[in-house]
Amino acid sequence: MINTTRRNLLRGGALITAGLATGRAMANGPDPLITEPQDWAIYTGDGVDATPYGMPIEYEGGVIRRNVPWLTADTISSINFTPIHALDGTITPQGCAFERHHSGAIALRKEDYRLMVNGLVETPSVFSYFDLERFPRETHVYFCECAANTGMEWAGAQLNGAQFTHGMIHNMEYVGVPLRTLLFEVGADISLKNWVYVEGADASSNGRSIPMEKALQDCLIAFKANGEGLRMEHGYPVRLVVPGWEGNMWVKWLRRIEVIDRAVESREETSKYTDVLEDGTARKWTWVMDAKSVITSPSPQSPISHGTGSLVISGLAWSGHGKITRVDVSTDGGKNWTIARLDKQGDRKALTRFYLDMEWDGGEMLLQSRAIDETNYVQPTKSQLRQLRGENSIYHNNCIQTWYVNEQGQAENVEVS
Ligand code: MTE
Ligand code: CO
Repeated sequence: MINTTRRNLLRGGALITAGLATGRAMANGPDPLITEPQDWAIYTGDGVDATPYGMPIEYEGGVIRRNVPWLTADTISSINFTPIHALDGTITPQGCAFERHHSGAIALRKEDYRLMVNGLVETPSVFSYFDLERFPRETHVYFCECAANTGMEWAGAQLNGAQFTHGMIHNMEYVGVPLRTLLFEVGADISLKNWVYVEGADASSNGRSIPMEKALQDCLIAFKANGEGLRMEHGYPVRLVVPGWEGNMWVKWLRRIEVIDRAVESREETSKYTDVLEDGTARKWTWVMDAKSVITSPSPQSPISHGTGSLVISGLAWSGHGKITRVDVSTDGGKNWTIARLDKQGDRKALTRFYLDMEWDGGEMLLQSRAIDETNYVQPTKSQLRQLRGENSIYHNNCIQTWYVNEQGQAENVEVS
């Protein structure tokens, strides 16, 4: 058996390698991967022109977006989920970042792109893509979370996998022009009682009203993500980034910004993306995504694949109010908590990776994580959230998630009271 207790790992590189190799050889006989020459070391590999644009190696073929067929009527107005159980670090590759379209993803050429800025402005203007490229740019990493993320879980533990319960989120590095730059450019009336109404070029238009204060603060008119052009499904060539606020406001294929003196109260901000409370009234203007976290591994799609001993618990935390300052992890359903290690101090309104490096004795666990942000807001339990909001809600569910892990290391979505 390979002995990988923490004590051995701490002894230094050379010793560990020797120790692992001897351990394996002793247990299973000679290891041909060590004793025999392998084809990949004898023959040359693919030439540099084989993949001008790289795809993940076939062995990573399972790290893909997935959907839940019964969740929406068709794939035009639909959602798929980021495989967060299989990713590490914080940046989401565009190729497996969740998509949410109300009327399908459209292919819009840069040459055909136009952005109109009108309403309460001195100079109503239309910008081409190439005009936008001539304004000073900024680069920022932000998470985008659909307000419906974890929505199915209000009714009880439903979907068996972090990808499905928490995968309506992605975290990318955006390059773009601050929205305030364009508002100043057209001489907008930026009085704080005003709003901007933003809409996309797709058939749904996905129109949303944004208070002027937020429009001036940190919204970005983005045209690059993770270094390259936006993928079509994320709004190529231009999308709006609304840091920390619900994903629905991140209008894709952005075509118009109207400065107005009141909110439009469009479909997406009245009958949708609001939460109906116990007494039948609805919460209004619930834009900010409160602090939330989830353990991505182990989790139902990412069971423990080794025996007892060293175990890396890994997860993600985020807050629409700013930085994550602490994440606690419990292995007993919230009775006892240990402070997890943040991979680095959290970025504002971006995903933070946390780890808990522990010794697993092979016993059952009820794994939970609890995020705390710079406003000292503490991620609530499911029952605390239900007390506040009742059981009619779908959107804005940021409660603590529980995974039951059995003695074989398999995990399951459960609810603890
Ligand atoms: N913008 C347009 N134009 N059309 C849409 O359907 N969907 C919204 C938002 N912006 C949408 C849109 C919703 S509900 C979410 S959660 C995010 O885009 C999802 O962004 P993504 O598809 O890049 O993940
Ligand atoms: Co959404």
